[in-house]
Amino acid sequence: MSTSPTPYFQRHIFFCLNERAAPEACCACHGAQQAFDHCKKQVKAQGLAGPGKVRVNKSGCLDRCQGAPVAVVYPDGVWYSYVDNEDIDEIVESHLKNGQIVERLLLPPDVGR
Ligand code: FES
Repeated sequence: MSTSPTPYFQRHIFFCLNERAAPEACCACHGAQQAFDHCKKQVKAQGLAGPGKVRVNKSGCLDRCQGAPVAVVYPDGVWYSYVDNEDIDEIVESHLKNGQIVERLLLPPDVGR
């Protein structure tokens, strides 16, 4: 029986930064870049960034555009739809730092592209 390797990062959060022409839904049209930048800054400021801790990554379309803007946390597989910096702060503090899912920001399971 093999053992799982120690993960390099404890958690990844991926922000979709994809842009689409109107009228299609897209994350870039709803402040995703700003939210990504804010999250990166907060994770660093709280000392959560780095090996064994948290990594904040950009991504292309995550195929759940109807919930835009969206982000997903792995390995937990938890999807969020956020609105402003306060939402990002809550995800950082509650989920990325303390492992507690932010229920109020969860993306409903049936939201797709
Ligand atoms: S454009 Fe962001 S999930 Fe598709």
